[in-house]
Amino acid sequence: MIRLNVNGQIHAIDVESHTPLLRVLRERLGLDGAKPRCTDASCSACIVQVDGRAQRACAIDVAELVGARIVTVEGLAASEGLAAGELHAVQKTWIDERVPPCSCQSGLIVAAAALLQHNASPSEAEVDAALGACRCAAYPCARRAVLSLAERVNAW
Ligand code: FES
Ligand code: FES
Repeated sequence: MIRLNVNGQIHAIDVESHTPLLRVLRERLGLDGAKPRCTDASCSACIVQVDGRAQRACAIDVAELVGARIVTVEGLAASEGLAAGELHAVQKTWIDERVPPCSCQSGLIVAAAALLQHNASPSEAEVDAALGACRCAAYPCARRAVLSLAERVNAW
């Protein structure tokens, strides 16, 4: 039995310790915002936050997460104290900037939120490093959205 803190709730889950977090989120907790896509930790589709840092849920076993605070895209807004139904600032920016949906969308949003918590004025290279190496046609818009949100926050 493993106890996991996901989106502020403690779950006691009967699961093998080497099970990837992504499987537990999707198959045991019904949280399907993090997506299975690549097989070699080279995309951003499954990114969640672990203690405020972006992590690939396909590449981390649940045994490593006991005592950690896991936040998925479903709990991102609430993790910053926003009410149910409200969107996180990064989610709003995705809409405002018309970032086209892609397979990595939820992971990119979660990774961007983690980045901006630790670095309010990231450079383009820092955004690229934080959002991962996957580059589809939507990616330049995602990068622009993160830089534009940082610029607006810093102008306040
Ligand atoms: S599905 Fe996890 S990194 Fe691609
Ligand atoms: S599919 Fe990975 S960045 Fe768009």
